[in-house]
Amino acid sequence: MRVLVTGHQGYLGTVMVPMLQAEGHDVVGLDSGLFADCILGPAPTDPPGLAVDLRDVTEEQLTGFEAVIHLAALSNDPLGALAPEITYDINHHASVRLARLAKAAGVSRFLYASTCSVYGSAGEELVTEDAPLRPLTPYAESKVRVEDDVAAMADSDFSPVFLRNATAFGFSPRLRADIVLNNLVGHAVLTGDVRVMSDGTPWRPLVHGRDIASAFIAAMAAPMDAVSCEAYNVGSEENNFTVAQIAESVVDAVPGSKLLITGESGPDPRSYRVDFSAIRKALGYQAQWSIPDGAVELYKEYTAAGLTSDDFFKKFTRLPHLEKLQKAGILDESMRRRADAPA
Ligand SMILES: NC(=O)c1ccc[n+]([C@@H]2O[C@H](COP(=O)([O-])OP(=O)(O)OC[C@H]3O[C@@H](n4cnc5c(N)ncnc54)[C@H](O)[C@@H]3O)[C@@H](O)[C@H]2O)c1
Repeated sequence: MRVLVTGHQGYLGTVMVPMLQAEGHDVVGLDSGLFADCILGPAPTDPPGLAVDLRDVTEEQLTGFEAVIHLAALSNDPLGALAPEITYDINHHASVRLARLAKAAGVSRFLYASTCSVYGSAGEELVTEDAPLRPLTPYAESKVRVEDDVAAMADSDFSPVFLRNATAFGFSPRLRADIVLNNLVGHAVLTGDVRVMSDGTPWRPLVHGRDIASAFIAAMAAPMDAVSCEAYNVGSEENNFTVAQIAESVVDAVPGSKLLITGESGPDPRSYRVDFSAIRKALGYQAQWSIPDGAVELYKEYTAAGLTSDDFFKKFTRLPHLEKLQKAGILDESMRRRADAPA
């Protein structure tokens, strides 16, 4: 299939593109390159790509594709809280506009990267796709709005699918340090401490980035009408861990590290355990990676690449990196690349 992947130079896109290519798909990327240089280890080979802001994409640029995989977003709760209007502008309005233009251009499949954080605070019960959505942040709210608005566009020629990914983990050449397992392993490697700022009790479903890519590949292979307008949780029940359990798997993976549960950040309302049976039944999908295996993978990759504190806390953490680009005059206050910015 000829596929456009938005956000192909992000953490997940960089892992997903080679997997799509290995399945025989002809991939073109679209990205404004916010994290294009945030690379750990050998540089990845990007597919041909459009260096375009999502807010400026045209129907012409979407013509000739059978599928759009839409990953591009400000993918960050702290940033969403700091600048909610930019988060809504990119994550909601520009995403809905992208879907509308894709449909007008004759694209038949639209696969959207949603999130399990749409469930917000759900307690101890496993939540299925039918559970009430209680987004707690502008980031999660923007994802709910896109699901609603894009579902309304579905017809026999346009089939949107909503993949509600658990929180990702695992190595990507374009690393992210601000997601829980990647963050805890990095701290442990750099300081020897596995530091949990909450009381460690909230539930977090996790999934490896490569398992997320496999879910998109499975959804693209399914008959269009079988998946149209469906939402699927992406992950596995085995990876519903409390934050303290996640931290324990890091202690096991990083030699000499020790666990500190400080509780300093106060209660964390985000807690949910997720049921992943729908995607297994509908798509025969099975996530492969466990959290302990992911912790070991990250430990090996971080140490092999010689991860530094400066890179970990600045280059690979979304918010400080974007602030640095703004201070350097590369991005304006709305996260657009400035016309006079160096290439
Ligand atoms: N990583 C996770 O834990 C996770 C979990 C659930 C869902 N998701 C979703 O998956 C998608 C990808 O996540 P990620 O971790 O790879 O994020 P990321 O921040 O690493 O990558 C996002 C990409 O989108 C691009 N982008 C952002 N704004 C843009 C704009 N206005 N125009 C063009 N490109 C723009 C960035 O340059 C970047 O390459 C996001 O939609 C995210 O919400 C991620």
